[in-house]
Amino acid sequence: MKPYLKVNEWRIVEEGFDPALNEVSESVFSIGNGYMGQRANFEEQYGGPSLQGSYMAGVYYPDKTRVGWWKNGYPEYFAKVLNSVNWIGIDVEVDGVQLDLSQCEVQNFTRTLDMREGTLSRSFTAVLPGGRRLRVESLRFVSVPFKEIGAIRYAVTPLDGPAQLKLTPYLDADVVNKDSNYEEKFWEEIAQEAGVDYARVEVKTRKLDFRVASHMRYDLEAADVRSGGAGQADADSADGSDQPEGEMHVEADTHTRGKFAGLSLSLRAEADQTITLYKYAAHVTSRDHAPETLADKAREFAEDAQERGFDALLAAQREAWAEKWRDGDIAIEGDAKAQQAIRFNIFQLHQTYTGEDDRLNIGPKGFTGEKYGGSTYWDTEAYCLPFYLSTADSSVARNLLIYRYKHLGKAKENAAKLGFSKGALYPMVTMNGEECHNEWEITFEEIHRNGAIAYAIYNYVEYTGDTSYLGEYGFEVLAELSRFWEERVNHSERKGYMILGVTGPNEYENNVSNNWYTNRMAAWTLEYTGQVAAELRKNEPEAYEALINRISLSEAELGKWADISKNMYLPQDDELGVFLQQDGFLDKEILPVSKLDAHNLPLNQKWSWDRILRSCYIKQADVLQGLFFLGDRYDLDTKKRNFDFYEPITVHESSLSPCVHAILAGELGYTDKAYEMYLRTSRLDLDNYNNDTEDGCHTTSMAGTWMSVVHGFGGLRVRGGRLVLNPFSPEEWTSLSFKVGFRGARLKVTVTGGSTVVENESESPASLTLYGREVEVPAGGSVSGEREA
Ligand code: BGC
Repeated sequence: MKPYLKVNEWRIVEEGFDPALNEVSESVFSIGNGYMGQRANFEEQYGGPSLQGSYMAGVYYPDKTRVGWWKNGYPEYFAKVLNSVNWIGIDVEVDGVQLDLSQCEVQNFTRTLDMREGTLSRSFTAVLPGGRRLRVESLRFVSVPFKEIGAIRYAVTPLDGPAQLKLTPYLDADVVNKDSNYEEKFWEEIAQEAGVDYARVEVKTRKLDFRVASHMRYDLEAADVRSGGAGQADADSADGSDQPEGEMHVEADTHTRGKFAGLSLSLRAEADQTITLYKYAAHVTSRDHAPETLADKAREFAEDAQERGFDALLAAQREAWAEKWRDGDIAIEGDAKAQQAIRFNIFQLHQTYTGEDDRLNIGPKGFTGEKYGGSTYWDTEAYCLPFYLSTADSSVARNLLIYRYKHLGKAKENAAKLGFSKGALYPMVTMNGEECHNEWEITFEEIHRNGAIAYAIYNYVEYTGDTSYLGEYGFEVLAELSRFWEERVNHSERKGYMILGVTGPNEYENNVSNNWYTNRMAAWTLEYTGQVAAELRKNEPEAYEALINRISLSEAELGKWADISKNMYLPQDDELGVFLQQDGFLDKEILPVSKLDAHNLPLNQKWSWDRILRSCYIKQADVLQGLFFLGDRYDLDTKKRNFDFYEPITVHESSLSPCVHAILAGELGYTDKAYEMYLRTSRLDLDNYNNDTEDGCHTTSMAGTWMSVVHGFGGLRVRGGRLVLNPFSPEEWTSLSFKVGFRGARLKVTVTGGSTVVENESESPASLTLYGREVEVPAGGSVSGEREA
């Protein structure tokens, strides 16, 4: 698809309306605040292709599994994030003709996502059937400071003489999930009600009894065409009674039906007179409030929003976003496309997860679509955590870890369900800690996810220095993961400990033995668990004693883990000097992707599964993922040999792939490759590279994009608790600057070619290693350095 979005450093702009692109734009222009999210659907009715999507974080449905052949241990359900109350709806009629852009000639259409302030706006002139022209301008946002609130300003202006207008703001919970397995509707009604100045609906899910209550209020304003001022209409005048002189005459008519409540506001507008409807919708769920209080809570929030007014809510929204950008912006000079792309990635991440609620996590599509069910994958630990570690308060990253801690019980149940006598196997896909994916290769075989969960604990502690996490939560998780590995390995007299029958991160291989990455991360987990045990024993002996008693951990277990870790079989080829992705990998025909005719790509659409499995082609970083995680344990030559061997046979058909390659390429000095990989990840959705953005944006891979800049070009690592920077900026850019927080200090790193200035914008001094040199950056001060040629 040809890129169609305008390049602008702070905005995503679509000019001209093309119905064929609408669903892609609905994903790209989504808005969210971590608590809820909304695709960029139109407020008014639209009969063309559209995926209506309003999502509330953590409200899901356990949709009964659909598989061909049942296997013991399959999850009973695949969780779906629920398409929830459509709160943006405003039907518009002009002289009895419905506004629907699929039935109109659309002129001067512009849709804009303003990333600096977190708003979505749209403007157009519609030529309605019959020839009347109507100008529409809308602006909406989901509030960051008032998370329950979504607000819309919707202004209509009849252009060809006076017109009778009917505006119908409503709440509609009679919605479906496109991805429903059995075309079932997931919501049941509890209440719907409308009065002259409000509408409300309350619904519950058919299973699990999640409840959502939404309440809507509005204000109506008519521009005074003579003086240029505005007149108000409210509930008193809306029903036509008590009509003060000089104010517009509005008739309100209420409508309710199953799971739907709204009211139509009929009024006469002069030619060129703008009528503005402000809609305030509040949403609360039984996740946060007692069910019997939901209706009142929603009403209170909506009334409060109305009282504050649209402009005040908008000002607060701008302020909240300014703060997010102050702490985590990336500025790229000399390449507006790259600048727009990185801001878009950062923006979507902040819209998806704010870290206030440790029951929530980050779905691969965020709130931008239904694919992947909004569930949690290993993506969070492997790709997203570093972004939040560097750009938000450490409590945000800590909450991502606590999420898994809280699921430890379920992870133990999951291991037991698969026949293990002890230990924890975290799910590959989850909402509440239970596995809810039904592809056997993923459910049963991608056990490498346990490695990422252990690694995230290490990463968090190493980055923040918060060792208290280990005694309080982390060690218990590590111990249960180690117990799982202890039982999952088997011992071969000839080779040592082996892990058979797995799928590694490269999902284009199934049921392989001794996937290097899986074995390596398992061995590392066992070693790290032992190391943490030793540290806790030394530093907090009493707490440690209590902890090991509580989880009944024996010395014998610790001894066994050390033995497995030391003697784990790690396949490698001495001649090539590379780690083998799995046993027998070199028996395949090894042919670089560049030698394949382009018509073969993407393999997952062009080749049979059988052919993919037999081939050498790699979906996403596998051995290289391990070399990225454990980068301090391998020298540059080893990384180079493996990169040179594996990258040419990698097809990057997971959006998570290019970023890891960009980071390693940066470290190896392959600057062109790093830049090529960065381009591939950063504009993935803006340019719809994979032709699938209509399903939603690749939110978790956006965290990978951020890593490819900060860890790739910025060369950021943490080694022995110390921040290390080795920055360079690609030739194509005049300069690059990024901001990271590290242990109380906030640093702005500006890179021009191979020269770097680090400014300390905080009140805490910072100590770091810049281009191999140890430097101190006093509060408010700066240091600079040059990269060796
Ligand atoms: C990748 C997985 C990833 C999932 C969700 C798949 O295509 O292979 O590694 O967890 O997408 O993003």
